[in-house]
Amino acid sequence: MQILDGNLVSKATRDELKIKVAQLVAEGRKVPHLAAILVGSNGASETYVGSKVKTCEEIGYKSTLIRLEETISEFKLLTAIEELNNDPDIDGILVQLPLPKHISDEKVINAIDASKDVDGFHPVSVGKMVQGLPTFIPATPHGVMLMLEHYKIDTKGKNAVVIGRSNIVGRPMSILLSANTQPGNCTVTICHSHTKNLKEICKEADILVAALGRPEFVTADMVKEGAVVIDVGITRVEDTTKKKGFSLKGDVKYDEVAPLCSYITPVPGGVGPMTIAALMKNTFRACQDKN
Ligand code: GUN
Repeated sequence: MQILDGNLVSKATRDELKIKVAQLVAEGRKVPHLAAILVGSNGASETYVGSKVKTCEEIGYKSTLIRLEETISEFKLLTAIEELNNDPDIDGILVQLPLPKHISDEKVINAIDASKDVDGFHPVSVGKMVQGLPTFIPATPHGVMLMLEHYKIDTKGKNAVVIGRSNIVGRPMSILLSANTQPGNCTVTICHSHTKNLKEICKEADILVAALGRPEFVTADMVKEGAVVIDVGITRVEDTTKKKGFSLKGDVKYDEVAPLCSYITPVPGGVGPMTIAALMKNTFRACQDKN
């Protein structure tokens, strides 16, 4: 069993970007500038946005963090996005999800200029991705593909099973794994809450991607010997033995599943760091299109 080390691959990707940014600076060209909007103060979202901003600094990008009150109106949020759309110095815009219930995710995502949609959630980006055209790929599935590529994992003709059909992870993941690309070219099954015989389907997977957000859902009896297991889940579970009061749990029961696998991602230190690396790649691309 080999661990797919997200920290290592993410660092390699970030180091490559750092060199490219230094080149832009040396040539007196524009450096990438990411704007992140955080509405409210959800603990996990704070952590994610904090990491994104910190990574921008580390690579040499500019970043702008806009914090808005939990109670902000949808109109005011849309206005803030419009200002960023019109600001020529801003290359990438992300609005951290989830948003408060009174705000429509759909309206917000649609309001972002597609050329600055570094999350790859805008319908234009999604449509291009489905057609295999160059575009922004959502960061988490993009990060998983970068990891498969880095470890030269053979995907062609393999059975991939994705558990979860969210627009952020499961659905784009299924499209990328089935695309006529390397990695890609899998036969993909997408499972969700209405799937029958989930265990049996998972057991057929050469590549199993767990992205449903239920801690330790995938158990040893669901995994084929030699499978590649990608754990996208990262849930805060109360843990009084920890200083923070919680520990992070993946969607896979790691201790019992890992011995069965050819490769597995740990949580934390697997997909999480790759998500940030992929976002940084998207942000570089957004700037490059203008440079
Ligand atoms: N919430 C969970 N994942 C993501 C992501 O990739 N982008 C944004 N904007 N919000 C998220």
